[in-house]
Amino acid sequence: MRYVTILIIVALVAGCGKKQPVSFKEQIQPVLNARCTQCHGKDIARGKIVMTSYASFMNSHTISGKEPLVVPGSPYQSRLYILCETNQPHFRMPPDTSTSTAPLPPAELELLRHWIAEGAKDN
Ligand code: HEC
Repeated sequence: MRYVTILIIVALVAGCGKKQPVSFKEQIQPVLNARCTQCHGKDIARGKIVMTSYASFMNSHTISGKEPLVVPGSPYQSRLYILCETNQPHFRMPPDTSTSTAPLPPAELELLRHWIAEGAKDN
């Protein structure tokens, strides 16, 4: 029992020490590829939103109002994040009708939120 407690403490301390920024290429684009690009890709671009690369969705806009999808530093002003996180199924992305993967699992939401909060860099 004591051994397990020590292991947990070591894991927690190690976890706190690691402050790696979220990587767009390694952690965010794969999520978009898996969850979004079947509807927001080059051939099918719902809402004229293309998510196959950083440049393509940073240059895409919301359907009404032409707002940016991502406001660097502010996940809660970023439509891309708000729509994934909302608990209102009518608005949520990906739509419930799409795949069994909707809504996004908490770990992926957290990645998205951190990446935007860290400045939504093309890293
Ligand atoms: C099954 C298809 C489908 C998938 C998968 C999907 N979307 Fe969408 N998305 C749509 C449709 C349809 C619209 C609305 C287009 C319209 O109204 O013309 C939309 C619109 C949007 C908008 C714009 C909303 C606005 O208010 O302007 C954003 C942002 C968005 N999606 C983000 C995402 C993200 C992020 C993912 C992946 C996590 C995703 N979508 C996955 C179909 C999809």
